[in-house]
Amino acid sequence: MTQNSNMNSKLPRFPEPLWRETDLPSFPKLKQDLDVDVAIVGGGISGLTTAYLLTMEGVKVAVIEAGQILNGTTGHTTAKITAQHGLIYDEFIQNFGEETARLYYEANNRAIDFIRNTVADKSIDCDLSKEDAYIFTNASNKMDSLINEFKAYEKLGINSDYLSEIPIPVKSQAAIVMRDQAQFHPLKYLKSLVQSITDNGGAIYEHTTAVNIEEGTNPKVITRDGHKVTSRHLVVASHWPFYDMEGFFFARMYPKRSYLIAVKTDKEYPGGMYINAEKPTRSLRYATYNGEKVVLFGGENHKTGVDDDTMENYESLAQFASETFGVQNILYRWSAQDPKTMDKIPYVGPMSDDHPNIYVMTAYRKWGMTNGTNAALLIRDYILERETPYKDVFKPQRFHANPDIKKFISINQDVAKHFIKGKLEHPNRQPEDLNKNEGAVVTVNGKRAGAYKDDTGEVFVVDTTCTHMGCELHWNNGETTWDCPCHGSRFSYKGEVIEGPAETPLKRVNEK
Ligand code: FES
Repeated sequence: MTQNSNMNSKLPRFPEPLWRETDLPSFPKLKQDLDVDVAIVGGGISGLTTAYLLTMEGVKVAVIEAGQILNGTTGHTTAKITAQHGLIYDEFIQNFGEETARLYYEANNRAIDFIRNTVADKSIDCDLSKEDAYIFTNASNKMDSLINEFKAYEKLGINSDYLSEIPIPVKSQAAIVMRDQAQFHPLKYLKSLVQSITDNGGAIYEHTTAVNIEEGTNPKVITRDGHKVTSRHLVVASHWPFYDMEGFFFARMYPKRSYLIAVKTDKEYPGGMYINAEKPTRSLRYATYNGEKVVLFGGENHKTGVDDDTMENYESLAQFASETFGVQNILYRWSAQDPKTMDKIPYVGPMSDDHPNIYVMTAYRKWGMTNGTNAALLIRDYILERETPYKDVFKPQRFHANPDIKKFISINQDVAKHFIKGKLEHPNRQPEDLNKNEGAVVTVNGKRAGAYKDDTGEVFVVDTTCTHMGCELHWNNGETTWDCPCHGSRFSYKGEVIEGPAETPLKRVNEK
């Protein structure tokens, strides 16, 4: 047996994040029309923090969530609370100037301070700890980028150091460290905010899918069941916006998946949060599980819907854990996805100049704890008409010639490629060829379809045409889902929507 297959046998059979053990309250489905000051679509960190901030100021708020709150990307995060979002500050200075880079840093620092102060004020027991954040590299061709990033830190006055060694047993030639960042248990923290929302009169509805918006002075969200939530301000916090207006968000963002495992290790973890500069990505932090320290190993990022064997990503992380800290037990494995914008800065603010009361908050590039909290603070400032210096940096209507034009072309060429490639595929497998727990693209009645055979031998066949804009879906064996390479929609093997922008389930295919 190879070392890799040993690691494979240690991986939990089903994906489940460490955080989801938290006992969260549940909320009813919306069964009537509502009239509120602010309607928020999406129950992740940004939607719920916005609701918390507004209800604290006496604003009447309703949150509607298509599934369960905190079960999307927020429930699957690494939960690092840091303004160190990879190697970005030198790039931001080069592309947008020092002032924009400084404002981006300050806005994320404001988010860190807000989380710290909220935890202290409300005495939230959420394992919040102060940690240094490191970017390290063992690749000679990344050394210049690392040095330039450190120079950018110095220009921006960031409390940081350049190091030739890091305190973890991972090979590294150099590192930069941003001091006094933080980490926490995201769901314990947000559970407390949810309690405050309802204590302050806010309403939360789960299993309530928003399918459309009626624009106007009093914008309305329309739900799948035909109910209307009328508001003065409407916030789209649904991860990938379910509603596009003329913002063309679909053409300006692309989704990336990443993977995590929680490991009881042989070696003691010294503290700190780490990420490397090169590929494949390796990210580390610790968490507390049943009173013991466990290490979260993350990475293996790729575009959604393009990787054929996603279990290999977990196996690579397990191998890395084994080679560095040693593996006693792999407790959890899970994955997440987040969209990226063309210039790497999230879109936060009014969706269009013509509709200043409909807002979007999206594309956190996997740094959602700070970017999502910053987005909530900004949307609060818009709605309560407060001045902040940060609005223009995140404004969704911005367009930078560099790097936007190049990236815009490559994103949309890629979508076109996937659209056509999927249509031309003629798989030669049939549903009856599948083994138990296997999924694949098959041919049924002469047409492309997707089939999965479960533990009991029951076969589920779906139409693999994405219900968003018609791209062909890929099988994801790590999560047993159908994933879209175009804009990242994901569906269960039965065809139910797991992640948008798609709102409509896949068609089930009759094999007869
Ligand atoms: Fe847009 Fe599938 S998510 S076509």
